[in-house]
Amino acid sequence: MKVATIIGARPQFIKTPIVSRELELQGISEILIHTGQHFDTNMSEVFFNQLNIKTPEYNLNINSGFHGEQTGRMLVELEKILLSIRPDCVIVYGDTNSTLAGALTASKLHIPLVHIEAGLRSYNRLMPEEINRVITDTISDFLFAPTSDAIKNLKLEGVTRNVFHVGDVMLDVMQETLRKINIEDILSKNGLADENFILVTIHRAENTDNLGNLFQIWNSVIKLSREGVRIVFPVHPRTLQKLKQLTNIENDINVKLNLVPPLSYFEMIALEKSSKLIITDSGGVQKEGYFLGTRCLIPRGETEWTKLVEIGWNKLVQTDTDSIVQSALEIFNSPKEVRKLSNYFGNGDASKKIASILKENL
Ligand code: UD1
Ligand code: UDP
Repeated sequence: MKVATIIGARPQFIKTPIVSRELELQGISEILIHTGQHFDTNMSEVFFNQLNIKTPEYNLNINSGFHGEQTGRMLVELEKILLSIRPDCVIVYGDTNSTLAGALTASKLHIPLVHIEAGLRSYNRLMPEEINRVITDTISDFLFAPTSDAIKNLKLEGVTRNVFHVGDVMLDVMQETLRKINIEDILSKNGLADENFILVTIHRAENTDNLGNLFQIWNSVIKLSREGVRIVFPVHPRTLQKLKQLTNIENDINVKLNLVPPLSYFEMIALEKSSKLIITDSGGVQKEGYFLGTRCLIPRGETEWTKLVEIGWNKLVQTDTDSIVQSALEIFNSPKEVRKLSNYFGNGDASKKIASILKENL
């Protein structure tokens, strides 16, 4: 059996290798196609090296562009490749434009489509990711859902055939990573061994394309650092571009604010675990915070990971400076809470289950 896996953005590089390994163990051969949506060394290559991902058989080098342009160029190239390799199925992950392009191409060529991380919904159709998820789920032949709530979301849309509740592959990869890395080492290399800190990641369109929102978030980071709180802010390239339009970063920065390039996955996991609080609009980081026992403040109107907000672990916060600073200081100045572990995200064997189900059914 031969599968083609289509990836292109940072969170997909992190999710893929653990599934690839399980596919191999099941005797399934995999052809890897990188759309090139993310292309900087620290947004792509670093994950291939660190997580031992094989060099993709194809790299489309699509890079950036408006949604239509970027997705359209992917469709053109993916169609040629899938026609020539004729895989038994196509695997896509998550909700990016690479996911959508892979899903549409496979579906039009009548190649069975497999969606990993199916069923997530923010119910905000202004988010490009929401459109990508809904369409991909609608046309998928095998849907692997990380949680019971994702299954419910699919049911509400009438999607019930070949839906499997397997758990979250991000938990699988994180558990394995924790066994490999030396957190103390990473902290001291990053100059963070002896200090409490807040980790910040921001990249959503609603917080970067909307310069008003970005201004409020940036001001909260400046304000917290001026009040003496160490901030570590690995900046996504999209956010850096927009920040440069908004302000003179050099003038705003101070000794308590570590504005750094995107981190490697191992560094990120170490910092997420050791930080007192995470401020993030990332989907993946919200979950990892929970896995690692660190609470997140989410400057967004809604989230796909509603359960973590319902249980009071993560908190949605208005995108304004005062609300962010006040909520951040409350959590930063309290002792770190002990998290009650649950198996809501599975048991760390989602990738194994996915590979076995594909082996049995294709
Ligand atoms: C994309 C996904 C988003 C996901 C995020 C993960 C879509 C619609 N969005 O958002 O769901 O959460 O990836 O990080 O697919 N850039 C670089 N170098 C890079 C990558 C990006 O400079 O290596 C710049 C691009 O020039 C572009 C901007 O960042 O201007 C946005 O990149 P893009 O891939 O379009 O969307 P993301 O915001 O990264
Ligand atoms: N991540 C990373 N370095 C960073 C920021 C994030 O390795 O500087 C990892 C993070 O640990 C998580 C994934 O990237 O595994 C999340 O991806 P991102 O926030 O880009 O996208 P999203 O999950 O929101 O789609």
